[in-house]
Parts: sequence; C-alpha cells; structure tokens
Amino acid sequence: MTKNFDVCVIGAGPGGYVAAIRSAQLGFKTVVIEREYLGGVCLNVGCIPSKAMITAAHFLHRLEHQAPEMGFEIPGKTKVNMKKLVSWKQSVCDRMSGGVAQLLKGNQVEVISGEAEFKDEKNLKVKGKDGESVIQAKHFIIATGSRPIEIPGFAIDEKNVLSSTGALALDEVPKKLVVIGGGYIGLEISSYLAKLGSEVTVLEAMPALLSGAADPECVQVVARKLKKTGVEVHLKAKAKSFKASGKTLEVTYEIDGKSQTLKADKILLTVGRKPNSDQLGLKKIGVQIDEKGFIKTNAQRKTNFPHIFAIGDIAGQPMLAHKASHEGVMVAEIISGQNRVYDAKTVPAVIFVDPEIASAGWTEEEAKANGHKELKIGKFPFAANGRAVSMLETDGFVKMIADAKTHVLLGVHIVGPEASNLISEAVLAIEMGARLEDLALTIHPHPTLGETMMEAAEATLGHAIHVIQRPLTAKKSATAEASQSPSRVH
Ligand code: FAD
Ligand code: NAI
Repeated sequence: MTKNFDVCVIGAGPGGYVAAIRSAQLGFKTVVIEREYLGGVCLNVGCIPSKAMITAAHFLHRLEHQAPEMGFEIPGKTKVNMKKLVSWKQSVCDRMSGGVAQLLKGNQVEVISGEAEFKDEKNLKVKGKDGESVIQAKHFIIATGSRPIEIPGFAIDEKNVLSSTGALALDEVPKKLVVIGGGYIGLEISSYLAKLGSEVTVLEAMPALLSGAADPECVQVVARKLKKTGVEVHLKAKAKSFKASGKTLEVTYEIDGKSQTLKADKILLTVGRKPNSDQLGLKKIGVQIDEKGFIKTNAQRKTNFPHIFAIGDIAGQPMLAHKASHEGVMVAEIISGQNRVYDAKTVPAVIFVDPEIASAGWTEEEAKANGHKELKIGKFPFAANGRAVSMLETDGFVKMIADAKTHVLLGVHIVGPEASNLISEAVLAIEMGARLEDLALTIHPHPTLGETMMEAAEATLGHAIHVIQRPLTAKKSATAEASQSPSRVH
C-alpha cells in the first residue's frame, strides 16, 4: 500500500516530533515514522530519564549531607529501592512520551510504527509489525538520531557492559562501577550512581575530564565535588579489555603504556555516540554522508537533494536535544517557503553534574581566535549570593567574557546551582548582542540565584557590590577578578 504526504519525518525524537508538529501547524499533510518510541532517545532513554535519576540522587544527597546541617535529625542510612526508583523514572518518561503522542494526534500528524528505509529519493519503505508499506512524500526530514559507540573489547550487552540505557534501568545499585569515558554521559551517570552508594571509578583517555566540552575552570569545581562524593578518576587511562569470573569483572586499562587492573560489578561504556545513518538506504540513493556518518547539510539543513532535509544528531554536532528541536521548527518553516537559515549565535550546553555546568558563547581562546584580541573577563562566586547560601549550594561561579572595547558579551560559563536555568539569560543576551552594562543595569529580583548574572557583569566591569574587587591596574585592565566576600544581607 502506498500513502502520499506533503512532509514525511523519519524519527520521532526532539528533532523529528517537533518538525512534524510544526509542519502540521503550517498546513502540511504530515506523517512521522518511528521504530521504537515517541520522543526518541531524549524522552525515553536520554535527557529526561537521566535528569529524573540525577534529581532523585541529589535529593538523597541533600537529605544525607545537607538536611542535618539545617537541623533535621535523619535516623540511620536511607535505603534505596532501586526497582521503585526506576519505575518512578519510567513513569516520568511514559508521561512525556504519551504527551508527544497526544500532541501529534491533536495536530493531525499521522504516526506509523516501523523501520524506514529509502527505496528511491521519493519513496520510503516502512517495515512494521503488520507488514510493509510505502510512503511517498514531497519532502523528507531525516531525524534518526544516534546510538552509543563501542570500543574493541567492550561490546555492550547491558549485563556486564552497560550503555547509558542500561545504567538508567538497573535493578540494584552496583557496588563497584567502572565508567569508561569522562564526558557528558559518563560524569552525569557517575555522579548519580555515586550518590546512591556505588563506588565509581572513571577511566578517561584524555588528560582532563570533559575535554573540550566545558570551561576548564568549571570542570575543576566539578572534579573536586566528584572526589568528595567518592568518585575516583584516572586520566590518560585507556580501557583495553575485561574478563569476567563469576559476577566479578576485571578491567584492564593502560596509563602511559603501563597496564593496570580494576575490579567491578558493572562497566559503563560512554565514549561518545554515532549517527544512525547506516540503515536508511542513504548510500543507495546518493545522499552525501561525511566520514563519521553524519549527513552533510547546508545552513538550511538541506542535503544534496533539495527535498530531503536532515536535523538533530544525524546532522552533526552539537548532539543536543534543543539544537535538534530548533532545526525541526526551522526546516518545517523553510518547507513552507519562509526564508530561514541556521544562524544561532550560540547553542547553550548544560552538563547535569554536581554542581551543574552550563555555557553559552565562546571560551577565552575561542573569543581570541574569532578576532577579539582584548577581553574583559570577570567572575562572581555563588558563595557571595544570598540565595545560594540559604540553599547550602555555594560551590561555583558565573564567569563572563566580553570584548574589552565594546563590552559586548561573548561568552558565559557557569558552574553552580541551577546553572542549567541561569544560562538562558546569557543565551538571550548573546543573541541580542547585549553589552555587560545591559546585564548590570537590569534589575534582578532578590534573593535569587539570577542576581549572580547581574553581579558577574558588574564584576567584569570592575564594580560588583558583593565581592571585594582588586583595583584595576593598567596591565590588568582586561580582567576583573572577584574575591569572595560575605553575602548580601537585607
Ligand atoms: P533521537 O532522540 O535519537 O531520536 C531519533 C529517533 O529516530 C529514535 O526514536 C529512533 O528510534 C528513530 N529511528 C532511528 N532510525 C529509524 C528508522 N530507520 N526508522 C524509523 N525510526 C528510526 N541532550 C540535551 O540537550 N540535554 C540532555 O540533558 C541530554 N541528556 C542525555 C542523556 C543521555 C543518557 C543521552 C544518551 C543523550 C542525552 N542528550 C541530551 C542528547 C539527546 O538525547 C539527543 O541530542 C537528542 O535525543 C537528539 O534528538 P534527535 O531527534 O536527533 O534523535
Ligand atoms: P562525550 O563525547 O561527551 O565523552 C566521551 C568521553 O570518552 C571523552 O571524554 C573521551 O575522551 C572519552 N573516551 C573516548 N574513548 C575512550 C577510551 N577508549 N577510554 C577512555 N575514555 C575514552 O560522549 P558521551 O558522554 O558518550 O555523550 C555523547 C553525547 O551525548 C554528548 O557529546 C552530548 O552531545 C550528548 N549528551 C548531552 C547531555 C547533556 O546535554 N546534558 C547529557 C548526555 C549526553
């Protein structure tokens, strides 16, 4: 059976389902094809479940470590019922995925369950439970996402060697966990499992955690907290192999060519993700793919076929849900004839570790490489913010980078409580070409963590109120350094 549509979206993740809804809103007869779950990786095995587990673990951590300081007497150690916790997490995912189903239905998007593969450039074959069908469409949007990368010696079986999916659906907290890869997923999951009582060791091949993914000063704050939570980190460590004897796994790794071993109950492999571009028949029809498997697109996310678009993880870095959704809306609007291109000045990134790291815009090096030879850089510590002190969450800072002459904001890097929420103000400021004065002169409500944004802008200008700022010498005029002082009192 052949069905005809204006727009056919392949994959119902945050790229695909958003593209489908926007297409339908614009009046197109739209279908979305999904082989596994509505909401994709993000809602089912990625962003949402990981944040549910991180929130739960942080809740327990606060109960055990911060509540007593506030005056609560917590009797004994809290027991973790992992099956119940995982089932709560699943209820969160189901609710979100069910919400996507309703939105698609409410917007009259047809949903077809099955695996899609191009027959030719105008026809798609869909293999579902009830057989095969063919979809013909004027426009295709490929949004098939990504999956974990495996390395030799560590095939993911979700029993001994877990991917993030397995680590978010455990029956019990592993006593000892070895995490291979100290990037986004490795560290988010390490901090959640360590807080639930697991002895975690991270093996990271690079000389630093979160290499290239976050401001190194921010990473230092997180590295200290990981240590405090009991997470051991081995840098420049390359995992080589493992052998199982009974339930114990012995992991062999190398640092500077020297072989070492570690015992564990489980291994978590998080060394990056690769695009799902290999089972779509793309080579057969001639859609261009790069050497890493990402579909090549232009600034409108068009492939080398003008009626085939690619968005989200499949279209390249950054592999983040909000970038996928942004592209989904954009492509639907391009199909409708609107003159749009991908011209975001910045894609914010958040790493949900403890404390959270969030960034928007350039690092110091990137700003210089982009022609801003002289910079103003300032920091404001959460320890000097009343709300952070009242929350017992004082680790970290907001760091701002601006052009020294124009004061235009170029980058914001936050490590601290609610960094994930605070960063949106920075994104808006950067998108609007705001100057430090725009942030400093904006009245922020008190007492809030948001005041750190205003004060970081003031610190960068050299006059934050709640830190003692060193006088700016001629040589140091580009850098306002804030030292910690008592927090605001009124
Ligand atoms: P996906 O969400 O991967 O969706 C693609 C969909 O296509 C899937 O449902 C898949 O089943 C379907 N599909 C694939 N091939 C076919 C086919 N041939 N036929 C039919 N259907 C097909 N990002 C953030 O921004 N914030 C976070 O906090 C965050 N946390 C994460 C935590 C984890 C553990 C992981 C793994 C990822 C996380 N990410 C996070 C990344 C985020 O999940 C992805 O960037 C995002 O899901 C990409 O969206 P997408 O629409 O491109 O693809
Ligand atoms: P990643 O690229 O963030 O980190 C992988 C890490 O593994 C790197 O530090 C790398 O140096 C290391 N590594 C590679 N090979 C190794 C080896 N053999 N031994 C030891 N270390 C090795 O990849 P990750 O964590 O798998 O996440 C994939 C992507 O998913 C992220 O890049 C991000 O785009 C997305 N994501 C986003 C989140 C968020 O927005 N909060 C959360 C989780 C994932």
